[in-house]
Amino acid sequence: MMVEFDGIVLDYSRQQATVDTVDKLYNLAEAAHLQEKIHRMFNGERINSTENRSVLHVALRAPRNAVINSDGKNVVPDVWNVLDKIKEFSERVRNGSWVGATGKPLTNVIAIGIGGSFLGPLFVHTALQTDPEASRFAKGRQLQFLANVDPIDVAKNIAGLSPETTLVVVVSKTFTTAETMLNARTLRAWISKELGPSAVAKHMVAVSTNLTLVEKFGIDPNNAFAFWDWVGGRYSVCSAVGVLPLSLQYGFSIVEKFLKGASSIDQHFSSASFEKNIPVLLGLLSVWNVSFLGYPARAILPYSQALEKFAPHIQQVSMESNGKGVSIDGVPLPFETGEIDFGEPGTNGQHSFYQLIHQGRVIPCDFIGVVKSQQPVYLEGEVVNNHDELMSNFFAQPDALAYGKTAEQLQKENVQQHLIPHKTFSGNRPSLCILLSSLDAYRIGQLLAIYEHRVAVQGFIWGINSFDQWGVELGKSLATQVRKQLNASRTKGEPVEGFNFSTTTMLTRYLEESSDVPANPQTLLPRI
Ligand code: F6P
Repeated sequence: MMVEFDGIVLDYSRQQATVDTVDKLYNLAEAAHLQEKIHRMFNGERINSTENRSVLHVALRAPRNAVINSDGKNVVPDVWNVLDKIKEFSERVRNGSWVGATGKPLTNVIAIGIGGSFLGPLFVHTALQTDPEASRFAKGRQLQFLANVDPIDVAKNIAGLSPETTLVVVVSKTFTTAETMLNARTLRAWISKELGPSAVAKHMVAVSTNLTLVEKFGIDPNNAFAFWDWVGGRYSVCSAVGVLPLSLQYGFSIVEKFLKGASSIDQHFSSASFEKNIPVLLGLLSVWNVSFLGYPARAILPYSQALEKFAPHIQQVSMESNGKGVSIDGVPLPFETGEIDFGEPGTNGQHSFYQLIHQGRVIPCDFIGVVKSQQPVYLEGEVVNNHDELMSNFFAQPDALAYGKTAEQLQKENVQQHLIPHKTFSGNRPSLCILLSSLDAYRIGQLLAIYEHRVAVQGFIWGINSFDQWGVELGKSLATQVRKQLNASRTKGEPVEGFNFSTTTMLTRYLEESSDVPANPQTLLPRI
């Protein structure tokens, strides 16, 4: 129950599964036509049937000479056209030949985007920040992300920054997402207010599939970086969505290594036999945990602070993909799909929610460890170096979960009788370990692709569409109704109407208590 591929070891021996179970899961995979579905994805078939789209994020990291077709057209040359354009543009910004409106180099980047246009790039940025090679390339530069429509996020992002040295990258697949577009208009106002409206052309660029709306917004189409409708938002970190901001920060050569890491897993996923296929094994075991054993959650526990944004990214990849109630043909499912993903880096999580994992609910855990620290620390006279101290916990926790501690053991240790029930650990709590030989751009790409494909495997087995996200629409449209009401009440004093009793009461209260908000305000930007 251990497999190894290209610097990564997976140990799944502590799952609640025997070799026989895994054999049965292979049979399940066969019955669900898993191999065929993987091939259909790689072949550019329109497997996202509710949106009539193919699912080709693997093409985003394919080598230049690869051939991957969508509708009979090889998409790889288009991918590389954009990558070449990003390389050229990011080099110009980084070497100071592209300057801002007042002639100053643009050393700060704010990437505006939300969901898939934010979480993946944030994860990769956070992981690269402490990598010695990447951080050398990022010297003197700063990359920030503005996601939340909460004006506090604007305040936090622009605090201490001058528009003169800032480049804003508006990242939105659709270029219609309410939060992103309001934040983009806000930073456009921030730039215009200080440097005049003509400065926007030098200080704002865009990443989108909707180049018409980019132009309408006022961004020069030459400064727009395209991607395609066959890239799902949460699978877009390897498109210009991630590649542009990350190349601006770290240089294209680092980002290319990240793409190569992801590509190595793509090849492994599409060609390795199931017994040796890391994403397939992980996906099958997740199906086992969720659908057969009934465990609704999964903890993602990287023993690396550099991976602190990994769990938040996988939350979207997994829960937006597999949190579905009907099959791909629209038939209500007689079983649960998806799992509740959460996590924190170790050892922080140990001092937070591990109590529940050890003695409360059963939560299958993914322990992710790294052999060589990005930032080793050795202290003279210490028992072990700092990374070994971290990794002592990485190796100990899975065994604590698996073996537990019995009442007999506690008795032998002379534990007071009344404390024995409290100090007993049931054991037999499932976990798996993923050990990476290092954590550089290449490995970060591998880790990303492993989880992307694992989620796809789960969806393929469950027979759902892992690539649409209709569940996010209803809340968005109800917010439109509230937005209209707030405008009508603030500008014309209209009473709250058309909502249920609860919402009417709360909205009325909100309006009453904020009656000092101006009806037709002048632009006001945060100052902290
Ligand atoms: O939350 C819904 C969603 O559509 C995500 O799937 C997507 O990643 C996010 O919104 C942002 O969308 P866009 O990139 O179009 O702004």
